[in-house]
Amino acid sequence: MNILILGSGGREHTFAYKIAESKHCDALFVAPGNAGTASIATNLSLSLSDFEAIKNCVLENDIKMVVVGPEDPLVNGITNYFASTPLLKDVMIIGPSQRGALLEGSKERAKEFMLEHNIPTAAYASFTKDSLEAGKQFLESLKPPYVLKADGLAAGKGVLILNDLNEARQELENMLAHSKFGEASSTVVIEEFLDGIELSVFVLTDGKNYKILPTAKDYKRIGEGDTGLNTGGMGAISPVPFADSLLMQKIEDRIVKPTVDGLKKEQIDYKGFIFIGLIKVAGEPFVIEYNVRMGDPETEVVLPRIKTDLVTLFEATCQQKLDEVSIEIDERAATTVMVVSGGYPEAYEKGKEISGVSEIEDSIVFHAGTSQKDGKITTNGGRVMAITSLDIDYKMALKKSYQNIAKLSFDRMYYRSDIGFDLF
Ligand code: AMP
Ligand code: GLY
Repeated sequence: MNILILGSGGREHTFAYKIAESKHCDALFVAPGNAGTASIATNLSLSLSDFEAIKNCVLENDIKMVVVGPEDPLVNGITNYFASTPLLKDVMIIGPSQRGALLEGSKERAKEFMLEHNIPTAAYASFTKDSLEAGKQFLESLKPPYVLKADGLAAGKGVLILNDLNEARQELENMLAHSKFGEASSTVVIEEFLDGIELSVFVLTDGKNYKILPTAKDYKRIGEGDTGLNTGGMGAISPVPFADSLLMQKIEDRIVKPTVDGLKKEQIDYKGFIFIGLIKVAGEPFVIEYNVRMGDPETEVVLPRIKTDLVTLFEATCQQKLDEVSIEIDERAATTVMVVSGGYPEAYEKGKEISGVSEIEDSIVFHAGTSQKDGKITTNGGRVMAITSLDIDYKMALKKSYQNIAKLSFDRMYYRSDIGFDLF
């Protein structure tokens, strides 16, 4: 069948890499894609907010399956659009309905869902402009640090963690009264701070059954030792060494099962990924957030460890037959290290020529922000490429990623040389 992947990052290149090797895939399209996806699929220039253009592209190219990479089209209802458009209703789409996507689109909704289904998470209260004063009083009742979260999508920037009460009060006001994150912060969730170590668990669900995918840990800060500004992610490791079978059993029993059962009870159409951000506090798992898609760069370490044909898994997902397939995982560890443009996550330049890509051996290069010009690969984003390696353990895999990164170069190239530092 012909398959379309929506998105343009390292995550989508990784999907393309896995799907291209499936015997069920005839022609593969990525919209808009990058220079990496162009080497294994056909890139199509499309805006992910233009559902009608996506429809035309699906019909013109006889596409039977669509894999949605990022959250925005899901939160904007692309799955509902397919279901309600007669010519598209039989196209398989990997990604939840708009109601399902609200688990990521609204932090308040996610908290209410967890409360309703007894899923462990930090205590919270939510506030709007009208309850700003009550919000400030609530902050006074808490111990620092203070966790403020914009309710809506804020491109990964909507969470503030502050040590000072006055600063927290001021930021609450900035968010609610001065639209610090635009419409996204018209409601703010204030949360109890949880002190622990983070990990992510990925689930593929058909709304009834589920498969737990490999765990991963990502490194979000730009600076070594987890310092500086938050980024989309600077590297990742899978599996998470401290996610032992005892912890995973707790996560499955207390979080994964109740989440999927909750979706079912609420009759939410959900055929896609759930990316659960977790924190382990004194041995017990708590949910920090839900995402309704795969993570980036977590995908670059999770998918390379899945041996089962991805298209088979997706078909089973769309047919609500995930219970009938088994999933085989590569026992090796995977690591990825992101190479980024100097200046990222703040202003950076694009269009720098990248050299050394063809010299990389024994690692996989997943393009993130790249484009191709006159046969040359150039930078076209903040996060440029993810270098993924597999080996018997994450230390060996990291060594390979770093040896290969040393062969890459472009003007003002930067990467973190300490991915995994907190696990050694
Ligand atoms: P989120 O966008 O919800 O993933 O939050 C961004 C980051 O803030 C998380 O990855 C955590 O590092 C941190 N964080 C969020 N909520 C909490 C919390 N309740 N306690 C401690 N850290 C948190
Ligand atoms: N790496 C974090 C995310 O994709 O949300």
